[in-house]
Amino acid sequence: MFKKLLRKKTNSKVTTINESVDLVKEDKIPSHIAIIMDGNGRWAKKRALPRIAGHHEGMKTVRKITRCACDLGVKVLTLYAFSTENWKRPKSEVEFLMRLPEQFLNSFLPELMERNIRIEMIGVMETLPSHTQKALKYAMNATKDNTGLVLNFAMNYGGRAEIVMAIQQLMKQVEEGELAIDDIDEACVNQYVMTSHLPEPDLLIRTSGEVRLSNFMLWQLAYTELWFTDIHWPDFDEQCLVEAISVYQTRNRRYGGLKGEETN
Ligand code: FPP
Repeated sequence: MFKKLLRKKTNSKVTTINESVDLVKEDKIPSHIAIIMDGNGRWAKKRALPRIAGHHEGMKTVRKITRCACDLGVKVLTLYAFSTENWKRPKSEVEFLMRLPEQFLNSFLPELMERNIRIEMIGVMETLPSHTQKALKYAMNATKDNTGLVLNFAMNYGGRAEIVMAIQQLMKQVEEGELAIDDIDEACVNQYVMTSHLPEPDLLIRTSGEVRLSNFMLWQLAYTELWFTDIHWPDFDEQCLVEAISVYQTRNRRYGGLKGEETN
């Protein structure tokens, strides 16, 4: 379907990733792409490898997709790296996952600087292991003045917990007499979600065949276009990202209204 879409645009055969990137850039690129990176474990199992080998390979995919998103001119890339529910996994797997930000950032930081990429994080920093916090804080600080792509890691993140925290903040304001209950609107809630300074995701990608949100960005995804693929995260590549974007470009976002030509 993807090749067909691209051929329809040009009437010619698309062969290389560079050609696909150039072609997809002729149309609207989503400003914010959010990804649920699923299937590391299944990728490893298929190869009779331990689950952590899948996570390690998944980290390499993060690097590849970050580069491609940067080349495409995406403004924000939010990656679901560790959910509030992932603490339930075996201790050794959790420990391995908590070492990934260090591994990734230690080796990738010079390139992040070169590419003007800023590291950010959503989720609860305080309850992460101190070495994970240290790596994230170091990279966030080192890249804080970069003005290109925002690479936003969702670490120790849960969508419901985020909404609960926003409610608590609003209730505090009410208690202190700074806000009337009747004045609470969507903009007030927006102020207190962890992405308050970022645009809402235009496109959500989930890999590995599951078709659910798994507590990811529940507030922010209200009008986001969803795209699912059976490909496991370690096998996800630049062509897959371009395919997701080219499908996004065929979607008609109405935000509850009517299509342009139907409004007259
Ligand atoms: C879900 O797949 C994946 C995760 C819980 C971890 C995702 C983490 C990465 C891809 C690496 C992150 C990299 C950095 C730099 C932080 P799963 O293990 O649930 O797969 P399964 O459903 O096949 O078992």
